[in-house]
Amino acid sequence: MKRIAAIACLLIITGYAYSQSPAEKKIRKSVDSLLKLMTLDEKIGQMNQYNGPWAATGPLTNDGNLLSQIKEGKVGSMLNVTGVKRTRELQEVALQSRLKIPLLFGQDIIHGYRTIFPIPLGEAASWNLAAMEASARVAATEASASGIHWTFAPMVDIARDPRWGRVMEGAGEDPYLGSLIAKARVNGFQGKGLGDTSALMACAKHFAAYGAAVGGRDYNSVDMSLRQLHETYLPPFKAAAEAGAATFMNSFNDINGIPATGNKYIQRDILKGQWKFKGFVVSDWGSIGEMINHGYSKNNYEAAFQAANAGSDMDMESRSYIQNLSRLVKEGKVKMSVIDDAVGRILRKKFEMGLFADPYKFSNENREKAQWNNAEHLAVSRDIARKSIVLLKNEHHILPVSKQAGTIALIGPFAKAQGDNRGFWSYEWPDDSLRMVSLWQGVQKKVSAETKLLYAKGCDFMDSSRAGFAEAVEVAKAAYFVILSVGEGPNMSGEAKSRSSIQLPGVQEELIKAVVATGKPVAVLISAGRPLVFNWTADHAPAIVYTWWLGTEAGNAIADVLFGDYNPSGKLPMSFPVTEGQIPIYYNHYNTGRPAQNDSDKFYRSAYTDLSIYPKYPFGYGLSYADFEYSDIRLSAKSFKPGQTITAAVTVTNKGNTGGTETVQLYIRDLTGSVVRPVKELKGFQQVYIKGGETKEVSFTISANDLRFYNDQLKYIYEPGDFKVFIGTSSRDVKEAGFELR
Ligand code: GLC
Repeated sequence: MKRIAAIACLLIITGYAYSQSPAEKKIRKSVDSLLKLMTLDEKIGQMNQYNGPWAATGPLTNDGNLLSQIKEGKVGSMLNVTGVKRTRELQEVALQSRLKIPLLFGQDIIHGYRTIFPIPLGEAASWNLAAMEASARVAATEASASGIHWTFAPMVDIARDPRWGRVMEGAGEDPYLGSLIAKARVNGFQGKGLGDTSALMACAKHFAAYGAAVGGRDYNSVDMSLRQLHETYLPPFKAAAEAGAATFMNSFNDINGIPATGNKYIQRDILKGQWKFKGFVVSDWGSIGEMINHGYSKNNYEAAFQAANAGSDMDMESRSYIQNLSRLVKEGKVKMSVIDDAVGRILRKKFEMGLFADPYKFSNENREKAQWNNAEHLAVSRDIARKSIVLLKNEHHILPVSKQAGTIALIGPFAKAQGDNRGFWSYEWPDDSLRMVSLWQGVQKKVSAETKLLYAKGCDFMDSSRAGFAEAVEVAKAAYFVILSVGEGPNMSGEAKSRSSIQLPGVQEELIKAVVATGKPVAVLISAGRPLVFNWTADHAPAIVYTWWLGTEAGNAIADVLFGDYNPSGKLPMSFPVTEGQIPIYYNHYNTGRPAQNDSDKFYRSAYTDLSIYPKYPFGYGLSYADFEYSDIRLSAKSFKPGQTITAAVTVTNKGNTGGTETVQLYIRDLTGSVVRPVKELKGFQQVYIKGGETKEVSFTISANDLRFYNDQLKYIYEPGDFKVFIGTSSRDVKEAGFELR
C-alpha cells in the first residue's frame, strides 16, 4: 500500500511541477535552495511580523530592539511603515542580515492611499466593477510608489448586521455581488501581476465569517452551519483566491467554537486544500495570542502550536511564533515541514514581487513624488464617488437643483466638512485642507456667479446642543433651496465601532425637522459608514441622498449629482432596517413555514407584530432622475435541461427626459430543494445607459450552474424542479416569471 501512496505522491508532485510555468519553476527552485541555507531561527523570523513604531492599528507592544531583530533576520515583514524613506531605511537593515532576505511592507490600503476613495461599502453601491477595479488600481499605484508591497485588502466579509461598524469596509450582504467585487478589487490591487512595480499584493480578509459576529458586536463569536458558511460567507473568499489573491488574513472571531486563527478546517482543509491556495495566511493583529482569551490556548506556547499547525503562516504582532516555535519544533510538536511550508509560501511571494532581485524597487523617491498630486487619480476618485451615491427619495423631482438658483442654503455638520469625508481606514495628509473637497466647495464651483450661498452648521454630529438651530432655520427661510448635510461623525463606523443604536446621531434629525418645517425644498444628504435609521426624515423630507464617506473628491461628486451633471445610479448593497429591532434583515432569506406576505398578514406569521416585515430600503434599491419602466419578462423557453440554457429578457424604457444608468438586476428562486432555498438570490446584473425616451432590451442567460447551492452534504449541486426568475430595479421591485429545470 505504501508503494502505491509513494507513487501517487510522486505523480502529484510531478503533475504539479509540470503544471508550473518556467518562471514558477525558477522561483520554486530559488525558494528550495534558500530554505536549505536557512537556520530554524531564520525561518521563524520570516513568520514574524512587527508593526512600525510610527503608527498602530492595534494594541502596540514596544520592542526596544526592533532594528537588531531585523538585522538578526528575526523579522520577515513590517506593517504601518510607509514612505520611500522609512521603508528604504528598514530594508537596508534587513539586508545586513546573514541571508539578506528583504522585508515585506504591509499596510491597510482599504480605499485609497494618497487619493482617498469612497469607503468600500459606498463603492459597492456603484455596482460598477470596472470603477471599483480602477479605484484599487490607483490605490496600488500610489501605495507601491511609497514603498508598500502589500495591502490588507480587500475585506470581503459578508455582513447582514449594520450595528457592526466594519460593514463600511466590505461589499454588503450579498455573496454574488460580494464575489464579483472581491475579484475586481484583487485584480485592481495586483494589476499586471506581482513583480510589476505598481502591483500591490492583495489580502482577502477576514477569513472567515467575521461579519457574522453575534449581535454585530466586533470580535464576537460566530456560530453557523457549515452549509451556511459555504453558501453565504465563503464565496467572496473563494472568488478572491481564484482571482489570485497573494495572501489571506484570518479573523479574530471563533467559528463554531474554534478561533479562525487556529482553525485547521478553514485554513488547511478549505483554503490550502480544496481551493489549492498557494499564497500565505497572515494572522490578524495579535490574533494568535488572543486564542488565550478565547480559552482555546493555555499560553502563547500552545497558541503558536495550534496556529502553525492550523495553517497560519505569519504572526502579526503577537510574538507567539518568534518566542515559541523554535522550542515547539525541537520538541517535535511542530514539524519542520510545517515551518518549511509556511516560510516557503512567504519567500515565494517575496521572489514573485521581485524583492530579491531588487529590494529597493518600490523605494524610488521620484516615483513617489510623481504620484503625489496626480490629477488623473482625483478624476478616478470623483468618478466612482458619483457612481456610489444613492438617491433614496426625490419627491416632485426637486432634484436636480438649478445651477442658476438665486439662493441656496447649505446647512449641517457635513456642509463644510473636509477630513470627515475621509472615512475609517484612510490616511490624513498635512495638505488635506487644500485637497479634500467639501460639499461647500463643490457647490461653490458648480453654481452660477449670481447664486448666493448661505451657510449654517446647525449642530454637531453627536452633541445635544440645539443652539445652532435658530440660525439654521433663518438661513433656510432666506433660501430658494436647502441642502442639509448630516451623518455619522468621523470614526463612528469602522473597527471596534459597533453600536447598539444606528439612528442618525445626536440631534441631527431634530435639525432636519426644524428645517423641513420652513416648507422650503430640502435635500437631505446623509454621509455614513453604514446603513442608518432615520425614519422621520425618510417619511417627511422631500429628497434624500445617501453619500456614504466619499473621500477626497466628495464635494465635487455630490455637487455633480445635486446639480444634474451626473444622474445618480447607486443601488444599496445592504438592506436598511426600519429599526435596530429588525436586525438581521436581508433580502435573501428563507420563506419559513409561515411566511408573512405583507404587513397586514402577521398573525401566526414569521413577523414582528409591532413592526413592518420590510426594510426601510431594500437591497438593490436606488432611484434615478430618469424614470425607468420595465416590461414583463420574456423567457426563451419554459423549461430546459442541464447543459442547455434559457434567456430571460426585459425591455427597459426611460419615460423621463434625463438619460441615466440603470442597474438591471436578475434574481432567482428555487421553489423546492433538498434544503430550503432563499426567496430570492441575486444571479446577475447589467448596467445600461438609457437616454430619455429610449427603450433598451436587457437579456440574461440562465444555465443549470446558476442554480447551484450547497446541499446538506456540502455538495455544490443543482436540482431539477420549478424556479422563479425576477428582473427589476431592486430586490423588491421586480417582474417575475417561472421556468423548470428538467
Ligand atoms: C486590524 C484589523 C485588520 C487590519 C490589521 C492591521 O486589527 O482587524 O483588518 O488589517 O489589524 O492593521
